[in-house]
Amino acid sequence: MSAPLVAETSTKLKPTPAVTVGPFYPPQPMGLPFFGAKPLSPLPEGNDLTIGPGGKQSEGEKISLSGRVMNTAGQVLPGIRVEIWQVDARGHYVVEKAADKDPGFAGYGAVSTDAAGRYTFTTIRPQGYARYGGLIKRAAHIHLRVSGAGLTPFATEVWFAGAPGNERDSFVSRIDDPQLRDRMLVRLSKLEGGHPSGTFDVVVPDA
Ligand SMILES: [Fe+2]
Repeated sequence: MSAPLVAETSTKLKPTPAVTVGPFYPPQPMGLPFFGAKPLSPLPEGNDLTIGPGGKQSEGEKISLSGRVMNTAGQVLPGIRVEIWQVDARGHYVVEKAADKDPGFAGYGAVSTDAAGRYTFTTIRPQGYARYGGLIKRAAHIHLRVSGAGLTPFATEVWFAGAPGNERDSFVSRIDDPQLRDRMLVRLSKLEGGHPSGTFDVVVPDA
């Protein structure tokens, strides 16, 4: 192998591992009778999930999640749509049929990355959840999807360092590469006078 090729390969960033959008992607949930999920309409736009339709404030601990979207060459990508969705403080997705959903939680948000490839969301610290009568147990996570010109839409999940159940979670524990695993685990730090915030950068796979 020639020296230049080795150098070029070694500077490439590893893409963020893909994770399925799952059954609760608000624009297009899986039509499983079990969940009774319906597409969310109208689809809320904006980066603050802690305010529900009608302006009600959500339950749960407010956090900020921000990061950059870049390619494997490390170039930041402006104008990329970033969507997130997660359970509310009572453990429900917004598209699920559940009588006790938090009416103050939007459950979904979408923004475009700025000129520096950056996105920011205000949401709540997620909790883990169980489905199928406990057959599936998930550690706390936020679903995240990126799409835009020149990209194959790409979905992944944001996980949290020290969250209960990370070791047993079938998605979290699947990432063997210690470097990649570290990148997938957000560390929330409390800013003075603010709420906890964490960074999650996304490296989209080459098309
Ligand atoms: Fe989920």
